[in-house]
Amino acid sequence: MSLVSLITGGTRGIGQALASRLVARGHRVAITGTTPDGVARAEHALAEQCGDPGRVLGLGCDVRDPGAVERAIRTVVARFGGLDVLVNNAGVGVGQPISELPYDEWDRIIGTNLTGVYHCCRAVIPHLVSRGGGWIVNVSSLSATAPFAGGAAYCATKAAVDAFTEALMQEVRHDGIRVASVAPGSVDTTFGGGGRDKSSWALQPGDVARVIVDLMRHAGRALPSRVEIRPSQPPRKG
Ligand SMILES: NC(=O)c1ccc[n+]([C@@H]2O[C@H](COP(=O)([O-])OP(=O)(O)OC[C@H]3O[C@@H](n4cnc5c(N)ncnc54)[C@H](OP(=O)(O)O)[C@@H]3O)[C@@H](O)[C@H]2O)c1
Repeated sequence: MSLVSLITGGTRGIGQALASRLVARGHRVAITGTTPDGVARAEHALAEQCGDPGRVLGLGCDVRDPGAVERAIRTVVARFGGLDVLVNNAGVGVGQPISELPYDEWDRIIGTNLTGVYHCCRAVIPHLVSRGGGWIVNVSSLSATAPFAGGAAYCATKAAVDAFTEALMQEVRHDGIRVASVAPGSVDTTFGGGGRDKSSWALQPGDVARVIVDLMRHAGRALPSRVEIRPSQPPRKG
């Protein structure tokens, strides 16, 4: 039977590109997002791509809400009979100095990028254990180790996700669950509202998706637990 993958934040950008690649590889794929229109559009596009609406599932689910996460994962398991892969991709960020960052924004960034990862892992692990193993991939960022002014909240979440990933990897490896983080540099998406045009030099969402798919092709004995990918020729500094 084909693998079942759940991608949080799969309605556009990196998550959507990954969903498309996994569907092409024969996975049954569930995606989440908070915007009903976005979820419906992405689900429809995936169903068109594979010609089988039964292999895709779009779910409105805010990863900040533990009850919604539990319900979404129960729905995926009921629909597909189990779960093999979780990709914690949903993320938000704004470029704002801490002195101007309202508490609500701080809370949204931490809640989505860090607590959301906790909610999803906690809810998914028993299902992966019952399958005899699987994958959890957390989408981090190079900014975890290269913080920048205006990104304190965002960079802190990604540094925390890296530590979380390493610890979780050690906790569940003997259950057959492989846990990894993938840390991209600049990717040409609308993340954080888009901003300047970086299409000529940035990574494309499919570049990051490819790294995640390649991870899962390693032999069971091998775990590339942290992968970085960056644009090969970003604009020169200074
Ligand atoms: N783009 C970059 O340069 C870059 C670089 C390094 C790392 N990353 C990381 O890569 C990941 C994906 O980024 P991206 O560039 O593809 O971003 P994007 O194009 O803005 O897509 C973000 C996705 O996350 C979903 N999302 C946001 N908040 C959510 C929530 N609370 N619950 C569930 N889903 C939520 C969005 O759907 P809704 O709007 O419907 O909620 C959307 O599907 C993020 O973790 C980001 O930190 C991005």
